[in-house]
Amino acid sequence: MEMAFGVSKPVIFFMAHVTITFFFLVSGAARATAQVFSVDSYGGRGDGVRDDTQALAKAWAAACASPRPAVVLVPGAGKHYLLKQLTLSGPCKSTVTLMVKGTLVASPDMSSWNDENRRYWIVISGVDGLAVGGGGEIDGNGEGWWKNSCKINTALPCKGAPTALTFHSCNNLRVDGLKMVNSQQIHMSVEDCIGVQLAHLSITAPGTSPNTDGIHITRSRNVQVSDCTIKTGDDCISIEDGTHDLHVTRLVCGPGHGISIGSLGDDNSRAEVSGIFIDTVQLYGTTNGARIKTWQGGSGYANNIVFQNMLMNNVKNPIIIDQNYCDSAKPCKAQGSAVEVSNVVFKNIKGTTISENAINLNCSKNFPCYDIALQDINLKMVGGSGGTESTCQNAKWRKSGIVVPQPCTGKN
Ligand SMILES: *[C@@H]1O[C@H](CO)[C@@H](O)[C@H](O)[C@H]1NC(C)=O
Repeated sequence: MEMAFGVSKPVIFFMAHVTITFFFLVSGAARATAQVFSVDSYGGRGDGVRDDTQALAKAWAAACASPRPAVVLVPGAGKHYLLKQLTLSGPCKSTVTLMVKGTLVASPDMSSWNDENRRYWIVISGVDGLAVGGGGEIDGNGEGWWKNSCKINTALPCKGAPTALTFHSCNNLRVDGLKMVNSQQIHMSVEDCIGVQLAHLSITAPGTSPNTDGIHITRSRNVQVSDCTIKTGDDCISIEDGTHDLHVTRLVCGPGHGISIGSLGDDNSRAEVSGIFIDTVQLYGTTNGARIKTWQGGSGYANNIVFQNMLMNNVKNPIIIDQNYCDSAKPCKAQGSAVEVSNVVFKNIKGTTISENAINLNCSKNFPCYDIALQDINLKMVGGSGGTESTCQNAKWRKSGIVVPQPCTGKN
């Protein structure tokens, strides 16, 4: 069942009665009254100083136990709720809406994260039919974590930092109308979910912040991402193992690393990704545009993939399949296997690149990529400074329409 809420949807507040009347879209006229559980009724202060972790946990527990549809309300009007690591678990008795009007901000006290929980900040787990929205903000307060990243301070050991918001095993999830800023690492991760709609999300962190992916999707199917703006220091959207039937549309991306399928197949693992449709994207100054990246030595497949209607502005690698990925930290000793890449369409992709090699199909000798279609592509050097080229290895491709640069005529 899908709940209606968010910017343009019919939400009527009767705060005096602490009741929200809202409509269920599915049956059209059917209507239900939800009970509101405000964080402030459970001891929340929202002063940005005192810890509100327990207040949100208690409001959640009460809402989740409610036999009636429930709204967990994080009040707005300049309020900042300081949170340490927190898991909001289901299953819940009825449908729950998490309505964030104010700001949820991560505690600056990094020592409150121990080794077991350091990969998470807010986790929502095992909740079916959850809706999240309200137009408020989730602030990961990431600066302290970034300074301690081994990517920034190479003298430090590499340890992960928290993902700001993790949805784990949440079927029929809808997140609509939220801002996320300065996550410690990944902003939002969708894991083991079936039936997900993410819409009207604004995700922002400095282009120099390490590993601050926008939306990370893994082991999930039937996922739609629409009307999002993502400006961070890593992938706008990273599509990982076990993602099937993902539809991304109307995305504005950059700075960051672009849209990436993978890395797949690390540590000789098996990865399966299929049915990925990326449509109507503007990229600004990203490292990659449309990328598929798989490790040497992996197995499995990435297939039935479409990247179309993309406008590139100053992108470094606009179109890239790298099936030979290997990183110096884990040397790959001429490993024969690879994640098979096939049936990929790159269509109507235009704009500018900052490196000559605008179309790079770098595929595996033993498992060449095949059914790679290049259609209506025009990628030029930024500022008109010389022509672009295209390099290919072990790729079975075809082209239609006008494709600039001419595919696979480069020096490699
Ligand atoms: C192709 O991949 C191999 C292995 O990662 C790398 O050494 C080579 O530079 C790549 N070629 C291009 C043109 O990117």
